[in-house]
Amino acid sequence: MIRLMQASDLKIVSEIENLVQSHPWTQKQFEESIAGYLSTVIEQNNQVVGFCILQPVLDEANLLLMAIHPSQQGKGLGYQLLDESIALLKNNPVQIFLEVRESNQAAIALYEKSDFHQIDLRKNYYPNKDGSREHAIIMVKACSDDFSKLFK
Ligand SMILES: CC(C)(COP(=O)(O)OP(=O)(O)OC[C@H]1O[C@@H](n2cnc3c(N)ncnc32)[C@H](O)[C@@H]1OP(=O)(O)O)[C@@H](O)C(=O)NCCC(=O)NCCS
Repeated sequence: MIRLMQASDLKIVSEIENLVQSHPWTQKQFEESIAGYLSTVIEQNNQVVGFCILQPVLDEANLLLMAIHPSQQGKGLGYQLLDESIALLKNNPVQIFLEVRESNQAAIALYEKSDFHQIDLRKNYYPNKDGSREHAIIMVKACSDDFSKLFK
């Protein structure tokens, strides 16, 4: 089940984030995202196992962050969460943008399955823990029916 994130989800959402990200968002950032963005969670057996944060901007949106608990990855939940969260955007965006670490092949494959494609590369964008830097892949998904046909 996918539903809007609530204050009572912040602890588990932060726990999942800390398990999967080298530079995790703080609980305060998640708290602000409940008010400012479209923040959703996915539950399995009444337990939150993933989250997704989308930022609507005029007639577009940005995918800011998403994650599935490591024990629940590879079961189709990330795809379902992203697809259903996008459908909840009230601004009916023409296109959705995201940035992802070049090394994050699982996420890139999920995004490609969700009809995102690469439009740019931002060199040395993300910091790594060892002090080095990593490129960001910029991807976009065309949402309106007419527009998306252009990319088929
Ligand atoms: C990226 C992430 C959200 C994917 O969630 P998931 O529930 O495991 O993904 P799904 O099971 O829905 O897989 C959907 C598609 O993604 C791709 N995919 C998922 N995991 C993959 C992996 N380890 N390797 C390659 N492709 C993968 C596949 O194309 C898959 O489709 P398929 O099963 O038909 O082959 C999850 O791996 C995660 O939380 N990672 C850590 C946090 C993160 O990187 N977030 C994204 C950047 S903010």
